[in-house]
Amino acid sequence: MLFLNNMFQHLIKCIKGFLFMCYTAIFTLITHTRISFSSSLYIGTHAHLILARGARILKYAFIDIRKKATLHIGRGSLIGRGCEIIVDETASCYIGDNVSIGSFSNIRCNKKIEIGSGTLIAQFVSIIGGQYKYKKKDIPIVKQGFTTWDVIIGKNVWIGAGVMILPNSSISIGDGAVIAAGSIVTTNIPEYAIAGGRPAKVAGFRE
Ligand SMILES: CC(C)(COP(=O)(O)OP(=O)(O)OC[C@H]1O[C@@H](n2cnc3c(N)ncnc32)[C@H](O)[C@@H]1OP(=O)(O)O)[C@@H](O)C(=O)NCCC(=O)NCCS
Repeated sequence: MLFLNNMFQHLIKCIKGFLFMCYTAIFTLITHTRISFSSSLYIGTHAHLILARGARILKYAFIDIRKKATLHIGRGSLIGRGCEIIVDETASCYIGDNVSIGSFSNIRCNKKIEIGSGTLIAQFVSIIGGQYKYKKKDIPIVKQGFTTWDVIIGKNVWIGAGVMILPNSSISIGDGAVIAAGSIVTTNIPEYAIAGGRPAKVAGFRE
């Protein structure tokens, strides 16, 4: 009985995998975009995925757009190998044109995340849009609620490898800014600034 049950579950998985392959193949042909077969795409009820022409989602990416949420991926933008993008219920994540998001980067959009056109995001970057409230020691953290914020990244920004964007309120990174590899961004970064460190501080400006 257990064997039959396992066989049945395996069969369902195969059928689901096949249907996903057909869906992505048809979608790719119609929209001139590319979603790798080995990526996972979950779209909740009344959620929107807008993939502009030439947008690509590479292998092993995991994309979860929850109920009433929106994910926009602009023209020619690239979601790298193994990236994880989660757009929470009713949240919106806007990725402009020709944005490149490096392998294994992680975007947690709990409210609003915008990434301006031409922005380059290196590998292993995390953009975090919310956190648990935790101050009361007698209530489990999971029951204390969740704070969310907006992260607005301008156009033509360069975010180095392993950067973590983790503010505790809404922030913006100005157009043309450069964030040094390994930094933790917690506050606003002005246009054309070169910022780095943990927390990131402005070290200078591009000429
Ligand atoms: C920021 C960066 C571009 C600077 O490169 P650079 O111009 O060759 O480096 P410099 O050593 O001249 O650094 C310029 C300033 O930024 C500071 N800085 C550089 N890297 C830093 C870091 N990781 N954390 C904190 N500050 C840093 C330097 O201290 C220096 O400040 P100073 O002028 O007060 O001394 C580079 O350090 C970097 O992080 N590049 C990202 C590379 C990457 O992630 N590639 C992945 C593929 S896209």
